Amino acid sequence: MATQRTLSIIKPDAVAKNVIGQIYTRFENAGLKIIASRMAQLSRAEAEGFYAVHRERPFFKDLVDFMVSGPVVIQVLEGEGAILKNRDLMGATDPKKAEKGTIRADFADSIDANAVHGSDAEETAKVEIAYFFPALNVYSR
Ligand code: PPS
Repeated sequence: MATQRTLSIIKPDAVAKNVIGQIYTRFENAGLKIIASRMAQLSRAEAEGFYAVHRERPFFKDLVDFMVSGPVVIQVLEGEGAILKNRDLMGATDPKKAEKGTIRADFADSIDANAVHGSDAEETAKVEIAYFFPALNVYSR
């Protein structure tokens, strides 16, 4: 399987629960390298821009409200099959449906406060990485 990069966000609920380190350990134990990382307080415009594809969904405002409610930690993960690997580590969007041992099953409380985001495909990953780490190509292999 090819080496991929994916964008991951530790959302405000998980930052508030003080589990950044535990989530990073899961990435590392799964063979994913954290090749870029920063903590940020997203502005409304940044959150709306990031989730623009969901603009028409009924939960859009709730999602944006939540994402600006506190600091997040944004990282680029690199490794073999990183996109799917990260999605597997995260578990289902709704933590009630997430498999035991996944990040969302263990740390998330609800579908709107669900601990982590992860890119869902190669094209999305490229766009999302460029959105938060526009200079990263400088360091690309
Ligand atoms: S996904 O992960 O894109 O396949 O899931 P999807 O169901 O399409 O949801 C897109 C993002 O919206 C979040 N979401 C919600 N937020 C608030 N309220 C409700 N009801 C809700 N349902 C879904 C979901 O967590 C996805 O955010 P990210 O950051 O991509 O995980």
